[in-house]
Amino acid sequence: MTDVFGSSHKDVHEQVVFCADEQSGLRAIIAIHNTALGPALGGTRFYPYPDEQAALADVLNLAKGMAYKNALAGLDLGGGKAVIIGDPGRDKSEALLRAYGRFIESLGGRYITACDVGTYSEDMDVIARESRSVVGRTLAHGGAGDSSILTAFGVFQGMRASAERVYGTPSLLGRRVGVEGVGKVGHRLVGLLREDGAEVVVCDVDPKAVERVRQRHPEVDVVADAAALIAADIDVFAPCALGGALDDRASATLRAKIVCGAANNQLAHPGVEKQLAERGILYAPDYVVNSGGVIQVADELEGFNMERARAKATQIYDTTLKIFAIATEEGVPPAVAADRLAERRMSEVGRIRGIWLGH
Ligand SMILES: NC(=O)c1ccc[n+]([C@@H]2O[C@H](COP(=O)([O-])OP(=O)(O)OC[C@H]3O[C@@H](n4cnc5c(N)ncnc54)[C@H](O)[C@@H]3O)[C@@H](O)[C@H]2O)c1
Repeated sequence: MTDVFGSSHKDVHEQVVFCADEQSGLRAIIAIHNTALGPALGGTRFYPYPDEQAALADVLNLAKGMAYKNALAGLDLGGGKAVIIGDPGRDKSEALLRAYGRFIESLGGRYITACDVGTYSEDMDVIARESRSVVGRTLAHGGAGDSSILTAFGVFQGMRASAERVYGTPSLLGRRVGVEGVGKVGHRLVGLLREDGAEVVVCDVDPKAVERVRQRHPEVDVVADAAALIAADIDVFAPCALGGALDDRASATLRAKIVCGAANNQLAHPGVEKQLAERGILYAPDYVVNSGGVIQVADELEGFNMERARAKATQIYDTTLKIFAIATEEGVPPAVAADRLAERRMSEVGRIRGIWLGH
Protein backbone atom coordinates (compact mmCIF):
# COMPACT_ATOMS: atom_id res chain seq x y z
CA MET A 1 0.00 0.00 0.00
CA THR A 2 1.30 3.45 -0.88
CA ASP A 3 1.50 5.75 2.10
CA VAL A 4 -0.14 9.01 0.92
CA PHE A 5 0.91 10.94 4.01
CA GLY A 6 4.50 9.69 3.64
CA SER A 7 6.78 7.61 5.80
CA SER A 8 9.37 10.38 6.38
CA HIS A 9 9.01 14.16 6.34
CA LYS A 10 10.65 14.29 2.89
CA ASP A 11 7.91 12.05 1.50
CA VAL A 12 5.00 14.05 2.85
CA HIS A 13 2.94 15.54 0.00
CA GLU A 14 1.02 18.75 0.63
CA GLN A 15 -1.96 17.73 -1.43
CA VAL A 16 -3.14 14.79 -3.50
CA VAL A 17 -6.27 15.18 -5.60
CA PHE A 18 -8.23 12.37 -7.22
CA CYS A 19 -10.28 13.50 -10.22
CA ALA A 20 -12.96 11.54 -12.08
CA ASP A 21 -15.38 12.34 -14.87
CA GLU A 22 -17.46 9.34 -15.72
CA GLN A 23 -18.71 10.33 -19.16
CA SER A 24 -15.31 11.18 -20.63
CA GLY A 25 -13.64 8.33 -18.72
CA LEU A 26 -11.20 10.64 -16.94
CA ARG A 27 -9.40 9.13 -13.97
CA ALA A 28 -6.53 11.30 -12.84
CA ILE A 29 -4.41 11.93 -9.77
CA ILE A 30 -2.67 15.26 -9.19
CA ALA A 31 0.06 15.28 -6.54
CA ILE A 32 1.61 18.42 -5.09
CA HIS A 33 4.76 17.58 -3.14
CA ASN A 34 5.45 21.09 -1.93
CA THR A 35 4.95 24.73 -2.83
CA ALA A 36 7.83 26.17 -0.79
CA LEU A 37 9.23 27.98 -3.82
CA GLY A 38 6.01 28.67 -5.73
CA PRO A 39 3.21 26.84 -7.53
CA ALA A 40 3.95 23.18 -8.17
CA LEU A 41 4.97 22.51 -11.78
CA GLY A 42 5.28 19.09 -13.38
CA GLY A 43 3.94 17.25 -16.41
CA THR A 44 0.95 15.00 -16.89
CA ARG A 45 1.74 11.35 -17.60
CA PHE A 46 -0.98 9.50 -19.57
CA TYR A 47 -0.29 5.84 -18.99
CA PRO A 48 -2.19 2.52 -18.75
CA TYR A 49 -1.30 1.78 -15.12
CA PRO A 50 -2.33 -1.74 -14.06
CA ASP A 51 -4.20 -0.32 -11.05
CA GLU A 52 -4.80 2.79 -8.94
CA GLN A 53 -2.05 1.89 -6.49
CA ALA A 54 0.58 1.81 -9.23
CA ALA A 55 -0.63 5.18 -10.53
CA LEU A 56 -0.57 6.68 -7.04
CA ALA A 57 2.93 5.39 -6.26
CA ASP A 58 4.22 6.79 -9.56
CA VAL A 59 2.65 10.23 -9.20
CA LEU A 60 3.89 10.67 -5.60
CA ASN A 61 7.42 9.71 -6.59
CA LEU A 62 7.41 11.91 -9.71
CA ALA A 63 5.99 14.94 -7.84
CA LYS A 64 8.77 14.76 -5.27
CA GLY A 65 11.34 14.49 -8.06
CA MET A 66 9.96 17.66 -9.66
CA ALA A 67 10.29 19.59 -6.39
CA TYR A 68 14.01 18.82 -6.33
CA LYS A 69 14.48 19.42 -10.05
CA ASN A 70 12.69 22.78 -10.04
CA ALA A 71 14.59 23.89 -6.93
CA LEU A 72 17.99 23.23 -8.51
CA ALA A 73 16.92 24.70 -11.84
CA GLY A 74 16.64 27.98 -9.96
CA LEU A 75 12.92 28.25 -10.67
CA ASP A 76 10.38 29.87 -8.36
CA LEU A 77 8.30 26.74 -8.60
CA GLY A 78 7.40 23.88 -6.32
CA GLY A 79 7.07 20.25 -7.32
CA GLY A 80 4.03 18.45 -8.59
CA LYS A 81 2.98 15.91 -11.15
CA ALA A 82 -0.19 14.33 -12.48
CA VAL A 83 -1.15 11.02 -13.99
CA ILE A 84 -4.11 10.14 -16.16
CA ILE A 85 -4.90 6.44 -15.99
CA GLY A 86 -5.54 5.03 -19.45
CA ASP A 87 -4.15 4.21 -22.84
CA PRO A 88 -3.42 7.55 -24.53
CA GLY A 89 -3.85 6.01 -27.99
CA ARG A 90 -7.35 4.76 -27.14
CA ASP A 91 -8.70 6.88 -24.30
CA LYS A 92 -7.53 10.41 -25.06
CA SER A 93 -10.33 12.73 -26.23
CA GLU A 94 -11.12 16.42 -26.26
CA ALA A 95 -13.74 15.95 -23.53
CA LEU A 96 -11.36 14.01 -21.28
CA LEU A 97 -8.55 16.56 -21.62
CA ARG A 98 -10.93 19.47 -21.04
CA ALA A 99 -12.49 17.77 -18.01
CA TYR A 100 -8.96 17.31 -16.70
CA GLY A 101 -8.24 20.99 -17.42
CA ARG A 102 -11.20 22.03 -15.26
CA PHE A 103 -9.84 20.05 -12.32
CA ILE A 104 -6.47 21.77 -12.73
CA GLU A 105 -8.20 25.14 -12.83
CA SER A 106 -10.10 24.29 -9.67
CA LEU A 107 -6.76 24.20 -7.82
CA GLY A 108 -6.49 27.97 -8.25
CA GLY A 109 -2.95 27.99 -9.69
CA ARG A 110 -1.39 25.72 -7.04
CA TYR A 111 -0.51 23.19 -9.78
CA ILE A 112 0.76 23.98 -13.28
CA THR A 113 0.85 21.14 -15.79
CA ALA A 114 3.06 20.36 -18.82
CA CYS A 115 3.82 17.44 -21.16
CA ASP A 116 5.16 14.07 -20.06
CA VAL A 117 5.03 10.49 -21.33
CA GLY A 118 1.82 10.13 -23.36
CA THR A 119 0.96 13.84 -23.57
CA TYR A 120 2.05 16.36 -26.20
CA SER A 121 2.04 20.12 -26.76
CA GLU A 122 -1.19 19.79 -28.77
CA ASP A 123 -2.83 18.20 -25.69
CA MET A 124 -1.64 21.13 -23.56
CA ASP A 125 -3.39 23.50 -26.00
CA VAL A 126 -6.64 21.58 -25.40
CA ILE A 127 -6.22 21.56 -21.60
CA ALA A 128 -5.45 25.29 -21.75
CA ARG A 129 -8.96 25.93 -23.10
CA GLU A 130 -10.15 25.17 -19.57
CA SER A 131 -7.22 26.23 -17.41
CA ARG A 132 -4.65 29.01 -17.18
CA SER A 133 -2.20 26.73 -15.37
CA VAL A 134 -0.68 25.03 -18.41
CA VAL A 135 2.76 25.31 -20.07
CA GLY A 136 4.47 23.27 -22.79
CA ARG A 137 1.97 24.54 -25.35
CA THR A 138 2.64 24.71 -29.09
CA LEU A 139 4.59 27.60 -30.60
CA ALA A 140 1.39 28.60 -32.42
CA HIS A 141 -0.22 29.20 -29.02
CA GLY A 142 2.71 31.14 -27.60
CA GLY A 143 4.17 28.01 -26.02
CA ALA A 144 7.73 26.76 -25.69
CA GLY A 145 7.25 23.86 -28.12
CA ASP A 146 9.63 20.91 -28.09
CA SER A 147 11.40 20.87 -24.71
CA SER A 148 14.06 18.42 -25.90
CA ILE A 149 15.98 21.40 -27.37
CA LEU A 150 17.01 22.83 -24.01
CA THR A 151 17.06 19.42 -22.34
CA ALA A 152 19.88 18.40 -24.70
CA PHE A 153 21.55 21.79 -24.27
CA GLY A 154 21.40 21.43 -20.47
CA VAL A 155 22.86 17.92 -20.54
CA PHE A 156 25.67 19.30 -22.68
CA GLN A 157 26.32 22.01 -20.04
CA GLY A 158 26.37 19.37 -17.30
CA MET A 159 28.81 17.31 -19.36
CA ARG A 160 31.10 20.31 -19.84
CA ALA A 161 31.09 20.88 -16.07
CA SER A 162 31.89 17.18 -15.52
CA ALA A 163 34.78 17.39 -18.01
CA GLU A 164 36.07 20.49 -16.21
CA ARG A 165 36.02 18.56 -12.95
CA VAL A 166 37.71 15.42 -14.30
CA TYR A 167 40.05 16.79 -16.98
CA GLY A 168 40.48 20.43 -15.91
CA THR A 169 38.89 21.74 -19.12
CA PRO A 170 35.23 21.88 -20.12
CA SER A 171 35.97 21.12 -23.76
CA LEU A 172 34.90 17.73 -25.06
CA LEU A 173 37.27 17.97 -28.00
CA GLY A 174 38.72 14.53 -28.68
CA ARG A 175 36.72 12.85 -25.88
CA ARG A 176 34.77 9.76 -26.80
CA VAL A 177 31.14 9.97 -25.69
CA GLY A 178 28.70 7.05 -25.73
CA VAL A 179 25.06 8.07 -26.12
CA GLU A 180 22.45 5.44 -25.21
CA GLY A 181 19.20 6.35 -26.98
CA VAL A 182 19.17 8.84 -29.83
CA GLY A 183 15.56 9.97 -29.67
CA LYS A 184 14.39 13.56 -29.26
CA VAL A 185 17.07 14.50 -26.73
CA GLY A 186 19.84 12.05 -27.65
CA HIS A 187 20.10 13.04 -31.31
CA ARG A 188 20.32 16.74 -30.41
CA LEU A 189 23.01 15.94 -27.87
CA VAL A 190 25.00 14.15 -30.58
CA GLY A 191 24.86 17.37 -32.66
CA LEU A 192 26.17 19.51 -29.79
CA LEU A 193 28.94 17.01 -29.06
CA ARG A 194 30.07 16.90 -32.66
CA GLU A 195 30.14 20.72 -32.81
CA ASP A 196 32.45 20.64 -29.79
CA GLY A 197 34.75 18.13 -31.48
CA ALA A 198 33.85 15.01 -29.49
CA GLU A 199 33.89 11.54 -31.00
CA VAL A 200 30.51 9.91 -30.61
CA VAL A 201 29.32 6.33 -30.42
CA VAL A 202 25.61 5.57 -30.13
CA CYS A 203 23.09 2.76 -29.68
CA ASP A 204 19.31 2.63 -29.96
CA VAL A 205 16.75 -0.16 -30.10
CA ASP A 206 15.03 1.71 -32.93
CA PRO A 207 17.01 1.39 -36.21
CA LYS A 208 15.22 4.48 -37.58
CA ALA A 209 16.61 6.60 -34.75
CA VAL A 210 20.13 5.34 -35.50
CA GLU A 211 19.64 5.98 -39.21
CA ARG A 212 18.57 9.59 -38.55
CA VAL A 213 21.77 10.25 -36.61
CA ARG A 214 23.95 8.52 -39.21
CA GLN A 215 22.42 10.59 -41.99
CA ARG A 216 23.34 13.83 -40.24
CA HIS A 217 26.62 12.59 -38.77
CA PRO A 218 28.01 9.71 -40.89
CA GLU A 219 31.20 9.67 -38.78
CA VAL A 220 29.33 8.56 -35.64
CA ASP A 221 30.01 4.95 -34.58
CA VAL A 222 27.18 2.56 -33.74
CA VAL A 223 27.20 -0.38 -31.32
CA ALA A 224 24.55 -3.07 -30.86
CA ASP A 225 23.18 -2.19 -27.46
CA ALA A 226 23.68 -0.50 -24.10
CA ALA A 227 25.83 -3.37 -22.79
CA ALA A 228 28.24 -2.88 -25.70
CA LEU A 229 28.33 0.86 -25.02
CA ILE A 230 29.09 0.30 -21.35
CA ALA A 231 31.91 -2.09 -22.27
CA ALA A 232 33.28 0.26 -24.94
CA ASP A 233 36.38 2.42 -24.55
CA ILE A 234 34.54 5.69 -23.88
CA ASP A 235 35.28 8.70 -21.68
CA VAL A 236 31.67 9.71 -21.05
CA PHE A 237 28.50 7.64 -20.85
CA ALA A 238 25.28 9.54 -21.62
CA PRO A 239 22.10 7.56 -20.84
CA CYS A 240 19.35 9.18 -22.93
CA ALA A 241 16.87 6.28 -23.22
CA LEU A 242 14.86 4.93 -20.29
CA GLY A 243 15.48 4.95 -16.53
CA GLY A 244 17.60 2.38 -14.67
CA ALA A 245 20.58 2.44 -17.08
CA LEU A 246 22.99 2.14 -14.16
CA ASP A 247 22.47 -1.12 -12.31
CA ASP A 248 25.04 -3.11 -10.31
CA ARG A 249 26.44 -4.75 -13.43
CA ALA A 250 26.72 -1.55 -15.45
CA SER A 251 28.33 0.37 -12.62
CA ALA A 252 30.85 -2.44 -12.06
CA THR A 253 31.90 -2.71 -15.71
CA LEU A 254 31.53 0.82 -17.08
CA ARG A 255 34.80 2.10 -18.56
CA ALA A 256 33.80 5.77 -18.79
CA LYS A 257 35.04 8.28 -16.20
CA ILE A 258 31.88 10.39 -16.41
CA VAL A 259 28.15 9.59 -16.48
CA CYS A 260 25.98 12.48 -17.69
CA GLY A 261 22.77 12.01 -19.62
CA ALA A 262 19.13 13.01 -20.01
CA ALA A 263 17.26 9.94 -18.80
CA ASN A 264 15.28 10.27 -15.59
CA ASN A 265 16.05 7.93 -12.67
CA GLN A 266 19.31 6.58 -14.14
CA LEU A 267 20.32 4.84 -10.91
CA ALA A 268 18.51 1.49 -10.82
CA HIS A 269 18.46 1.52 -7.00
CA PRO A 270 19.86 3.54 -4.11
CA GLY A 271 23.50 2.67 -3.53
CA VAL A 272 24.58 2.69 -7.18
CA GLU A 273 25.81 6.27 -6.71
CA LYS A 274 28.23 4.98 -4.04
CA GLN A 275 29.48 2.16 -6.28
CA LEU A 276 30.21 4.67 -9.03
CA ALA A 277 32.03 7.00 -6.65
CA GLU A 278 34.11 4.12 -5.30
CA ARG A 279 35.25 3.30 -8.85
CA GLY A 280 36.21 6.94 -9.41
CA ILE A 281 33.37 7.53 -11.87
CA LEU A 282 31.83 10.99 -11.70
CA TYR A 283 28.03 10.87 -11.85
CA ALA A 284 26.30 14.12 -12.80
CA PRO A 285 22.88 13.79 -11.13
CA ASP A 286 20.21 13.21 -13.78
CA TYR A 287 17.59 15.60 -12.50
CA VAL A 288 20.10 18.44 -12.41
CA VAL A 289 21.50 18.07 -15.91
CA ASN A 290 18.16 17.26 -17.57
CA SER A 291 16.36 20.31 -16.19
CA GLY A 292 16.74 22.31 -19.43
CA GLY A 293 13.32 21.07 -20.56
CA VAL A 294 11.47 22.32 -17.52
CA ILE A 295 13.41 25.59 -17.72
CA GLN A 296 12.22 25.93 -21.33
CA VAL A 297 8.53 25.32 -20.60
CA ALA A 298 8.53 27.30 -17.33
CA ASP A 299 9.65 30.32 -19.32
CA GLU A 300 6.15 30.43 -20.79
CA LEU A 301 4.94 31.80 -17.47
CA GLU A 302 6.72 35.07 -18.38
CA GLY A 303 5.76 34.96 -22.10
CA PHE A 304 8.06 32.56 -23.88
CA ASN A 305 11.48 33.81 -24.93
CA MET A 306 13.94 31.16 -26.16
CA GLU A 307 17.06 33.25 -25.61
CA ARG A 308 16.14 34.01 -21.99
CA ALA A 309 15.37 30.32 -21.40
CA ARG A 310 18.66 29.29 -23.01
CA ALA A 311 20.58 31.72 -20.80
CA LYS A 312 18.94 30.16 -17.76
CA ALA A 313 19.75 26.62 -18.95
CA THR A 314 23.40 27.67 -19.35
CA GLN A 315 23.49 27.94 -15.54
CA ILE A 316 23.26 24.15 -15.35
CA TYR A 317 27.03 24.29 -15.88
CA ASP A 318 27.57 26.26 -12.64
CA THR A 319 25.03 24.27 -10.65
CA THR A 320 26.67 20.99 -11.64
CA LEU A 321 30.11 22.29 -10.60
CA LYS A 322 28.65 23.51 -7.30
CA ILE A 323 27.21 20.06 -6.61
CA PHE A 324 30.58 18.42 -7.26
CA ALA A 325 32.22 20.89 -4.87
CA ILE A 326 29.65 20.17 -2.13
CA ALA A 327 30.13 16.43 -2.71
CA THR A 328 33.86 16.81 -2.04
CA GLU A 329 33.42 19.13 0.94
CA GLU A 330 30.80 16.97 2.61
CA GLY A 331 32.28 13.62 1.58
CA VAL A 332 29.14 12.36 -0.17
CA PRO A 333 28.38 11.23 -3.75
CA PRO A 334 27.10 14.00 -6.09
CA ALA A 335 23.57 12.55 -6.03
CA VAL A 336 23.40 13.14 -2.28
CA ALA A 337 25.00 16.58 -2.62
CA ALA A 338 22.34 17.54 -5.20
CA ASP A 339 19.51 16.53 -2.86
CA ARG A 340 21.07 18.53 -0.03
CA LEU A 341 21.47 21.64 -2.20
CA ALA A 342 17.85 21.38 -3.37
CA GLU A 343 16.61 20.93 0.20
CA ARG A 344 18.65 23.95 1.33
CA ARG A 345 17.13 26.18 -1.35
CA MET A 346 13.59 24.99 -0.57
CA SER A 347 14.16 25.62 3.10
CA GLU A 348 16.09 28.93 2.90
CA VAL A 349 14.07 30.58 0.14
CA GLY A 350 10.81 28.96 1.24
CA ARG A 351 11.29 30.43 4.72
CA ILE A 352 11.21 34.06 3.51
CA ARG A 353 7.49 33.69 2.79
CA GLY A 354 7.12 33.86 6.56
CA ILE A 355 8.21 37.51 6.55
CA TRP A 356 5.11 39.52 7.30
CA LEU A 357 4.36 41.95 4.48
CA GLY A 358 2.39 44.42 6.55
CA HIS A 359 -0.67 44.77 4.29
N1 LIG B 1 12.31 15.36 -23.79
C1 LIG B 1 12.63 16.06 -22.73
O1 LIG B 1 12.54 17.30 -22.72
C2 LIG B 1 13.15 15.38 -21.49
C3 LIG B 1 13.34 16.15 -20.32
C4 LIG B 1 13.88 15.54 -19.19
C5 LIG B 1 14.18 14.18 -19.22
N2 LIG B 1 13.96 13.45 -20.36
C6 LIG B 1 14.30 12.03 -20.33
O2 LIG B 1 15.30 11.76 -21.32
C7 LIG B 1 15.11 10.48 -21.88
C8 LIG B 1 14.97 10.60 -23.40
O3 LIG B 1 13.85 11.42 -23.68
P1 LIG B 1 13.39 11.69 -25.19
O4 LIG B 1 12.40 12.78 -25.11
O5 LIG B 1 14.57 11.80 -26.07
O6 LIG B 1 12.63 10.32 -25.48
P2 LIG B 1 12.49 9.56 -26.89
O7 LIG B 1 11.44 8.54 -26.69
O8 LIG B 1 12.36 10.54 -28.00
O9 LIG B 1 13.92 8.85 -27.07
C9 LIG B 1 14.33 7.74 -26.35
C10 LIG B 1 15.13 6.86 -27.30
O10 LIG B 1 15.68 5.77 -26.58
C11 LIG B 1 15.56 4.60 -27.35
N3 LIG B 1 15.61 3.43 -26.46
C12 LIG B 1 14.61 2.89 -25.70
N4 LIG B 1 15.07 1.83 -25.03
C13 LIG B 1 16.38 1.69 -25.35
C14 LIG B 1 17.39 0.78 -24.96
N5 LIG B 1 17.14 -0.21 -24.11
N6 LIG B 1 18.63 0.94 -25.49
C15 LIG B 1 18.89 1.92 -26.38
N7 LIG B 1 17.96 2.83 -26.77
C16 LIG B 1 16.73 2.72 -26.27
C17 LIG B 1 14.26 4.78 -28.09
O11 LIG B 1 14.20 3.95 -29.24
C18 LIG B 1 14.30 6.26 -28.44
O12 LIG B 1 14.93 6.49 -29.69
C19 LIG B 1 13.87 9.90 -21.18
O13 LIG B 1 14.31 9.12 -20.09
C20 LIG B 1 13.14 11.12 -20.68
O14 LIG B 1 12.38 10.84 -19.52
C21 LIG B 1 13.47 14.01 -21.49
